[in-house]
Amino acid sequence: MEARISKFVINGGKLLKGAIDISGAKNAAMKMIAASILTQEEVRLENVPKILDVIKLAEILQKMGAKIEFQNHTLKIDTTNLRSEEPDPELVGAMRASVVLIGPLLARFGKVNFSHPGGDKIGSRPIDRHIQAFRDLGVEVTEDNHGYTFRQGRGTGTKTRFDKITWTGTENLLLFAAGRNQTTTIDNIALEPEVFNLIDLLEKMGAKIQATGRTAVITGSSQLSGATAKCIGDRLEAATFAIMAAIAGEGITLNHIEPAHLEALWEKFREIGIKFEKKDDSVYIERPSKLRPTTISTAEYPGFITDSQPPMGLLLTQAEGESYIRENIFENRLGYLKELQKMGARIEILDNHQAKIFGPTKLAGADLQSLDLRAGATLLIAGLIANGQTSIEGAENIDRGYENIEERLSILGADIKRVA
Ligand code: EPZ
Repeated sequence: MEARISKFVINGGKLLKGAIDISGAKNAAMKMIAASILTQEEVRLENVPKILDVIKLAEILQKMGAKIEFQNHTLKIDTTNLRSEEPDPELVGAMRASVVLIGPLLARFGKVNFSHPGGDKIGSRPIDRHIQAFRDLGVEVTEDNHGYTFRQGRGTGTKTRFDKITWTGTENLLLFAAGRNQTTTIDNIALEPEVFNLIDLLEKMGAKIQATGRTAVITGSSQLSGATAKCIGDRLEAATFAIMAAIAGEGITLNHIEPAHLEALWEKFREIGIKFEKKDDSVYIERPSKLRPTTISTAEYPGFITDSQPPMGLLLTQAEGESYIRENIFENRLGYLKELQKMGARIEILDNHQAKIFGPTKLAGADLQSLDLRAGATLLIAGLIANGQTSIEGAENIDRGYENIEERLSILGADIKRVA
């Protein structure tokens, strides 16, 4: 699967109906792929989404000597012949999530050179919290113009605490701790469900991990074994489609999800007046005749996730009255609002973190730019509810995290096509 430079063209105004299967979680799969570095036996991952980020991460490992097979959403990884070399700087630079390779590579080889992962359009995204925690655990970290060198030092720190919570930082350090022959305590960890999906895999591989509140105690081993694990349903994809269903759906069922992972979203849905019905592993959602305005303030799990802030911002352009958004996690995640303004949305951007949205406004089709993964998906949904035609440049940003989105939405009745 290559990055296809293309755009989406959408003819809006069609109501959507039917069922959609939610993919496996991107942000679980990426870290579980990294875990395969910790064993010389096969790791088999099921329910892995076929999306660009996953393919690129697998490619980084392949270039370093790993054997990878990816069929029907099952990924088999054998890192027996993995070489101790720097992960491809170009691929690392294009995909920030690749930082989770540092922990397991360091545990396996004792030293890693890693180029700067770079920031992106949602903020500068430094890795200082990861580095501080590695240092606490006895790792020497140096930086030059090209990137970082991580080296297991002589000291063996056994305890670290994140001053501020970091999701991938937590996973990076869990991966490191699981691969070394000692017990490590990590405090103030992230509690995202994907973190626990990774912990399950590491336990199956032989690590002992006790997570109590925000503290994890990990007894690792340099001799972990192979294992099979299944990625949880992608709650970020599910949230995107749930919000789509709430503004463009005549009745949509989302299958293969864990409704409990989206409690903060359901709470907002109740407040806004959106009808939904939860089952064991699915949710049915209908568009109400009237949406109430609300306030969104993003936070770490179990709070309202930053990734669902853009589609929610779109939804609030359709609510009756004044809504308020506060983005607390990233410095620059309101850029999509400027694109919505081009469609006629009435929005006052107060600063990089806050905006007021006034609704309801009938959106008009426009030529738009997909800025990042979640903003791109948001504009795509905006196109579905707008009058007339919308085009969205940068479809590859959306392909990073949503598998075959145009086919899956077409089945629900959307008029959307990809053009080169
Ligand atoms: C994860 O990013 C997700 N990525 C993001 O999803 C998600 O938006 C984000 O968590 C939500 O918190 C993956 O899981 C691969 P953080 P992550 O470390 O781990 C700052 C998507 O589209 N920070 O919790 O990078 C950072 O800049 C992606 O699927 C530091 O300052 O997020 C940010 O402002 C986008 N120093 C905040 O903390 C550090 O060392 C939270 O970052 C680390 C983070």
